[in-house]
Amino acid sequence: MEEDFDVRLVEEVKYYRPAPEYRKNAWTDDYERAYAEFLADPVGFWERQAHHLEWFRPWDSVREWDYPYARWFVGAKLNITHNCLDRHVADHRRNKVALIWRGDEGEERIYTYYKLWREVNRFANGLRSLGVKKGDRVCIYMPVVPEQAIAMLACARIGAVHSVVFGGFGAQALTTRLNDAETKVVITADIGYRRGKRIPLITIVEDAVIDAPSVERIVILRRQQEYPVDIHPERETDFYELMEGQPFECAPEVMDAEDPFFILYTSGSTGKPKGIVHACGGYMVGAHYTTRHVFDFKDNDVYWCTADPGWITGHTYVVYGPLMVGGTVVLVEGTPDYPDPGAFWKIIEDLGVTIFYTAPTAIRMFMKVGEQWPDKYDLRSLRVLGSVGEPLNPEAFEWYYRVIGKGRCPIVDTWWQTETGMQMITTMIGEPMRPGFAGRPIPGVVADVVNKAGESVPAGTGGLLVIREPWPAMLRTVYGDDARYRQYWETVPGCYLAGDLAIKDKDGYIMVIGRADDLIIVSGHNIGTAEVESALVSHHAVAEAAVIGKPDPLKGNQIKAFVILKLGQAPSERLKNDLVYQVRMMLGPFAVPSEIEFVDTLPKTRSGKIMRRVLKARELGVDPGDLSTLEE
Ligand code: WTA
Repeated sequence: MEEDFDVRLVEEVKYYRPAPEYRKNAWTDDYERAYAEFLADPVGFWERQAHHLEWFRPWDSVREWDYPYARWFVGAKLNITHNCLDRHVADHRRNKVALIWRGDEGEERIYTYYKLWREVNRFANGLRSLGVKKGDRVCIYMPVVPEQAIAMLACARIGAVHSVVFGGFGAQALTTRLNDAETKVVITADIGYRRGKRIPLITIVEDAVIDAPSVERIVILRRQQEYPVDIHPERETDFYELMEGQPFECAPEVMDAEDPFFILYTSGSTGKPKGIVHACGGYMVGAHYTTRHVFDFKDNDVYWCTADPGWITGHTYVVYGPLMVGGTVVLVEGTPDYPDPGAFWKIIEDLGVTIFYTAPTAIRMFMKVGEQWPDKYDLRSLRVLGSVGEPLNPEAFEWYYRVIGKGRCPIVDTWWQTETGMQMITTMIGEPMRPGFAGRPIPGVVADVVNKAGESVPAGTGGLLVIREPWPAMLRTVYGDDARYRQYWETVPGCYLAGDLAIKDKDGYIMVIGRADDLIIVSGHNIGTAEVESALVSHHAVAEAAVIGKPDPLKGNQIKAFVILKLGQAPSERLKNDLVYQVRMMLGPFAVPSEIEFVDTLPKTRSGKIMRRVLKARELGVDPGDLSTLEE
């Protein structure tokens, strides 16, 4: 944790106010009142939210808080897929469009709720036929295709714990995650498409499982019809062959509210990624409530979140949340600038998207290429805009508001984390928006900015962002490392420590400034400095490496690596390329340093820890702060 968060706020306040109808018609039509009601009776508040969902058995108590462990909806039984699918299939949404998928080449596939329900059930039965049982870990390493969501829902149906690994991760990163979760089955595809290129996912999986002895079976979605990849039957099964002949009814596993639901890995400040464990009941309630209230989701909305389901945003706000509210979800495999920078706006026009949720890095890329791209398309269907993953800087906010929202659509800049499972801080629809500030904690959440002792810092002063009360969708543990879980709650006494630096203004609006630890957020992806460093150090020529984040106008941050070579190794362009290649293959393209500098020494503490803070200050030409622990 960095020592110094001495930042001050310039109080030049500029609010944007959406038209009054937004507030009048919103599910949360009065933020102040809703927040006060929550504070007066937190348990009653969450109980009311839980009543919007169907349960197989009700809870005996809403919340049991045994610091730092919380249990929610204790004794209740449920299956989230019942609320995502069966409930809608049984009512007027049976034939409503659940999913519209657009492929990289513009192809389209549509699933109604009924069709999605059938496919999920058949695949779930298929998984059961492979011997997958409640509690078994299943890794999903897939491109953004409907089958990715189907695989997730099928695991949820039978109570298998999914660990979705983003399809951009390299073999080494995949192996680490497969082993940490003691994965039994991997679901993948032959290829993913990216900007017209084919990414051979199955090859990466076949590499990754060599060192993952727990893996018994690989299920492969074969997309290439002309030259289908071979299936090696002793280990591999075809996705659709597994479904063939399976009944399309599959009794949902009856889950306890506190049963583990899924594991999702996030970068840690040690080299080892943390398997964040979420629980069935609380996650379901948190995902449903926030999807409904933060986006103000209505039955006729066409909703598009551009995140890959491989990240938490995709779990909660592509798959589970929007399906629970019975929404129509757009799923897109393509990138924002392929085949041209109008790709996203064309989709919004074609499909009449009303709620659009994306990342600041994409918005900044669009700003750079110019307004002529969105201006070619009719964006009048849009009603609500969202942002997630990193701070939405005021310039990007204003551009998004004016050029995409035409000065009409509220923007929800949502702050949250893999660990929180659900959105925590934003500006609820209809409330005045302050550019650069995510907003206030949503009703249901108690957030604050504090010093290391957990005391609130005065308005306008920087501090640590914390959550003071447990919330239903909070992580329950870190898989296989409960001590790491306790650190979240025990570092600052009595508070959940998010790891971000923030400032609160006098109205309680929170601006998130960035990470306070050794994570770097590059284009919205969390990358641990230690992960990149260990990938670099595993190269035979490297003795030591240190990695820092440098501000980048597009990506938020970029990675710079400082490398000490082993004796007898000479710096060269060739070696730089080799190191880049090493990181790309081990971790994936998004973790690649954009700059590598060969150095003779690294600043260290007397106990030998690399002081990245000093490297960063030197790099940016700013005051490095306290140097008393620096070794001579
Ligand atoms: C950052 C993504 C500023 C933050 C949902 C957090 C944000 C980390 C915002 C979690 C936002 C996310 N404004 N920063 N609206 N949203 N972050 O686990 O540093 O991939 O701690 O979850 O992203 O990233 P994660």
